[in-house]
Amino acid sequence: MAFRLSHLSLALSLLALALAGVAIYRNTYEAMSKGFQTLSPELDLLESAASILTLNNNNAEQNSDSKLTQPLSPSACIFSAVRRVVNRAIDRERRMGASLIRLHFHDCFVDGCDGGVLLDDIPGSFQGEKTSPPNNNSARGFEVIEQAKQRVKDTCPNTPVSCADILAIAARDSVVKLGGQGYNVALGRRDARAANFTGALTQLPAPFDNLTVQIRKFNDKNFNAREMVALAGAHTVGFTRCATACNSNNVNPAARLQCNCSVTQNDTNLQQLDRTPAVFDRVYFQDLNRNQGILFSDQVLTGNTTTAAIVTTYSNNGAVFLGDFAAAMIKMGNLPPSPGVQLEIRDVCSRVNPSSVASM
Ligand code: HEM
Repeated sequence: MAFRLSHLSLALSLLALALAGVAIYRNTYEAMSKGFQTLSPELDLLESAASILTLNNNNAEQNSDSKLTQPLSPSACIFSAVRRVVNRAIDRERRMGASLIRLHFHDCFVDGCDGGVLLDDIPGSFQGEKTSPPNNNSARGFEVIEQAKQRVKDTCPNTPVSCADILAIAARDSVVKLGGQGYNVALGRRDARAANFTGALTQLPAPFDNLTVQIRKFNDKNFNAREMVALAGAHTVGFTRCATACNSNNVNPAARLQCNCSVTQNDTNLQQLDRTPAVFDRVYFQDLNRNQGILFSDQVLTGNTTTAAIVTTYSNNGAVFLGDFAAAMIKMGNLPPSPGVQLEIRDVCSRVNPSSVASM
């Protein structure tokens, strides 16, 4: 009997132990769960801090001033992403900086800064600006803008940015990378749902334009003579194709050209637009004052007392040119789209969004 009682008490003790074990486990689990719940916001913070670190590390070469403890704002993320792609492209090929500056100009001067220059033709709907004579086989940098757009999508989720904005940022970053003066780029442009082949032909200045025509075309966009000369100073970087320079209407007859136009009218080489085509400096204006501007449209700037005086100012003082250029670029980047044009934020810069195509 005593034996049976001791067995019973042993069994009861074991049961009590087991119940206590279950209770301890449950309490511990609940405590841990509560602990995780209170911890989770901190984990979120840690995670976002880690992604901020990644973002900042990726942009370490440019973001030396950014604070690792602060997340990038959506616009800072956009600027950072575009700058990274643009700087890499220019590191690969210096001329790309010049091409991106020109692409932004060709966007804004045709119906405002609306990304129109980037659109491929849609047969049956519109013929775009890309294939219009001023751009055809001439405008460059489209793939860099697509890459920048993709990088913004990848690194700045839920931060839509228009292709026109990316062009504006890319142009500014190119100016800076080539040695020019930086300026602020405001965001908020939107992309057109069609492009204007004829507009590119009529609104953009041509290399054979005389001064009167140039002044009129810039005046149409609300630029005065000084702003026009400053903007023409973009020809301090980059090249013209010999295909352009081999047409005598397009060039300054006194310029010493590198193109071999006497042998063939189809020279596929390039002619630099000033003596230092990789540097954003005042040498373009010094060349004009030596009668060595390359394009006809360049050299005519010295043919009128008002514009000639501005050329001389800039050729003597690079800082004045760089400041005026930056101010004129801000103004150009704010040229509004034509009234009534339908706008969107394009997903791929060369195509209108599918829903837009359906509604056309
Ligand atoms: C009177 C006005 C202008 C005329 C007639 C003109 C015309 C031209 C022409 C014909 C070329 C060479 C294109 C080729 O051969 O493929 C060129 C290149 C260039 N233009 Fe202009 N342009 C003018 C104003 C501007 C403005 C306002 C900017 C920018 C703000 C600009 C930026 C450039 C740049 C950077 C290049 C070199 C591009 C490269 O190397 O890819 N141009 N321009």
